Amino acid sequence: MKRGDPNGPFLATARGEFASRRPLWIMRQAGRYLPEYREVRAKMSFLELCKSPVAAADVTMQPLRRFDLDAAILFTDLMTPAEAMGVGLRYDPGPVLDRTVDSLEAVESMIVPDPERDISSMLETASLVRDELDEQKALIGFVGAPFTFACYLVEGRGSKHWDKVRRLMHGEPEVFDRLLTRITDCLEPLVPALVRSGCDAIQTFDSWAGVLSTEDYATRCAPHTDRLLRAAKDAGAVAIDFVNGVSQHLPTMHEAPADVLAVDWRLPMREIRARTDRVVQGNLDPTALFCDEAELRRKVAAICEAAGDRHIFNLGHGILPQVDPRAVEVVVEEVHR
Ligand code: CP3
Repeated sequence: MKRGDPNGPFLATARGEFASRRPLWIMRQAGRYLPEYREVRAKMSFLELCKSPVAAADVTMQPLRRFDLDAAILFTDLMTPAEAMGVGLRYDPGPVLDRTVDSLEAVESMIVPDPERDISSMLETASLVRDELDEQKALIGFVGAPFTFACYLVEGRGSKHWDKVRRLMHGEPEVFDRLLTRITDCLEPLVPALVRSGCDAIQTFDSWAGVLSTEDYATRCAPHTDRLLRAAKDAGAVAIDFVNGVSQHLPTMHEAPADVLAVDWRLPMREIRARTDRVVQGNLDPTALFCDEAELRRKVAAICEAAGDRHIFNLGHGILPQVDPRAVEVVVEEVHR
């Protein structure tokens, strides 16, 4: 199995070692802002694309053909394992589930998948990408953090404030805790399977943790995410903990068994740096890509300067479909300047 060079810029920085340059990648770097991605999507649905290893591997590589990035991220979705867990799934454009999982019976009926048997297309995509990818560049695999995964299972689709899942957390605490445990049981075997298939790093995405209080996140959710991060480290991969909600959760993240803390854009990097000496990833506001070029360069340079060397440049959340790819070129140029 091919591997990324541990001394390449991304993996060296992630492990806290000296790197030849500041690494960068962009959350959701393969997506609708790229005309070549839209061309592929005109021919097949998003789910078909996720389940077609050759096409998904090609889409994973699209942003790396255009930009001088230091990592590829496996093209799939946070919710794609749901099908193998027995919960039917479609996209419109975000995940929509056939049924919600909000009772003890529904939780117990969720199937723990065997990744090699039930999620094999994702693993095949990873090994195709690793074969094609330069060894100086890392391949990042990912899983949903259990809370964010639960958000979709309980609500059945996207939501603004995720009231139903928060009601369950407080109204039926046993069901909520069993649900997060079950999700973690389901996702944990996927982590070493992704690493065996060529992923050098695993990122947990807690995209909706921002709706939670510090205490609820620390006591009811983060311990489950920590299990997935530990599984990544035990498998020999770099573990990245992304939490969208750093303003109230940074002290909890600081305790996570992760190599890298990935942060949103709401706190300035200089404040994050004053509060942690860990390797950090982030944290340009995704809408800053709509600034004029001089202002965009100024914002990128300010983040790099405040973060210091222990830093992987990224956005604070996913890139928006309306972004002009030229803005990404400006960011890449400025980070590597
Ligand atoms: O390049 C990459 O970063 C890899 C691809 C990737 C996708 N989803 C592809 C995708 C990644 C890392 C994800 C993770 C994901 N999926 C998250 C966590 C990251 C985050 O942004 O917080 C979440 C919350 C989801 C759930 C999800 N899937 C949503 C909310 C949506 C709709 C997004 C929108 O803007 O409309 C999806 C669909 C999805 N996942 C698309 C892509 C490229 C768009 C689908 C399309 O082509 O129509």
